Amino acid sequence: MNSNAEMDFIKINLESESYKIFFGKDYIENSANYIREFTKTNKIAIITDENTANLYLNKISRSLLESKYEVIHIILKSGEKIKNISSVENVINTLLEKRFERDDLIIGLGGGVIGDLAGFIASIIHRGVNFINFPTTLLAQVDSSIGGKTGVNTKYGKNLIGSFKQPLAVFSDTSSLSTLPVREIKAGYSELVKHALIKDNELFMWLCENWNVIFNQEEEIIKAIKWSSNIKATLVQEDVRERGSRALLNLGHTYAHAIESLLKYDGTILHGEAVSVGIILAYKTSYLLGYSKKDELNKIIEHFNDVGLITDLRKFNKDNIDSDMLLNAMNNDKKVKSGQKTFIIPEGIGKAFISNKINDEIIKSIVDTALAS
Ligand SMILES: NC(=O)c1ccc[n+]([C@@H]2O[C@H](COP(=O)([O-])OP(=O)(O)OC[C@H]3O[C@@H](n4cnc5c(N)ncnc54)[C@H](O)[C@@H]3O)[C@@H](O)[C@H]2O)c1
Ligand SMILES: [Zn+2]
Repeated sequence: MNSNAEMDFIKINLESESYKIFFGKDYIENSANYIREFTKTNKIAIITDENTANLYLNKISRSLLESKYEVIHIILKSGEKIKNISSVENVINTLLEKRFERDDLIIGLGGGVIGDLAGFIASIIHRGVNFINFPTTLLAQVDSSIGGKTGVNTKYGKNLIGSFKQPLAVFSDTSSLSTLPVREIKAGYSELVKHALIKDNELFMWLCENWNVIFNQEEEIIKAIKWSSNIKATLVQEDVRERGSRALLNLGHTYAHAIESLLKYDGTILHGEAVSVGIILAYKTSYLLGYSKKDELNKIIEHFNDVGLITDLRKFNKDNIDSDMLLNAMNNDKKVKSGQKTFIIPEGIGKAFISNKINDEIIKSIVDTALAS
């Protein structure tokens, strides 16, 4: 059943590892109908977290059990803290104890934390098993479930252990967003709008008029999520291993990662919140360098304010952010190559380029100005 022709999807074209990302409203409830064509196994392990499990684990499992699949539940605590190598080891031990085999299937059910962790486990257990992702946060649906980056954090920084593991399919069930706290919706929206800012002025204009479809779960929500996801998909296809253009997806992230690391990932801010401020700082950098106009910067600030995204660095200033600290954090980022920081500089709205040539004085002046009251 369910021929792809009737379903809303985008395709990620990657030589031997192409797959589809499906957008719809009943994938969790009718999971067995949708996954059947992707796997011959009878055994499925669902990796999820407590919050998602409380809301959706019964739903997804009922469909699978009715179709006579044997289902293993792995429920982790919710939050970024579990995204580490000892969770990986624990989960793998549990799976092996339950005789999870080479041809069996792992399903990830949850936000980006679960997607990254479950995908990573699927890439290493038995040297790689089949993986299908059911992302349940906006951030995961527009961003982390697309492109095959998986991994866990270390004490030296985020995502420093990982692999590329493309899933067999992704089922983005937008009905799951109805239970997501508004704060999490906003965090995901930062990444969604980021795609518009780097590649698609038309999407940005559309979002300025229609952002309510996301926040009020209106009918057109799938259009918005699909439009934004398509931009990420295109960049991933061009450069799956991030040797070049895929890095455009890091707009705002050099600032954002530094802010997050100064706040020690203590949960006071969400990644998407740091990203919205990071995007504004990137636009300020672009304006200072003459690549964006004042009214473009203002339009973005205005839109972020309308939506309720954080735009002001002072929001985080708990005596632990100043320009020197921020620069220090950027320099300590393990992804910095031979001391060169990479910035994504927007050129107006809908275009951006990668630069390794932004000097510290510019960053210092942007941050000092942003912190001055
Ligand atoms: N792989 C990639 O390319 C990529 C890209 C961006 C971000 N990421 C990673 O994604 C992670 C962040 O993802 P996230 O923002 O989804 O966080 P998350 O997975 O922690 O989810 C946020 C919160 O929402 C809860 N939740 C999930 N689905 C829900 C639902 N439908 N209703 C109610 N609550 C729900 C979760 O339990 C959690 O408490 C980070 O670890 C980040 O590094 C990865
Ligand atoms: Zn991000």
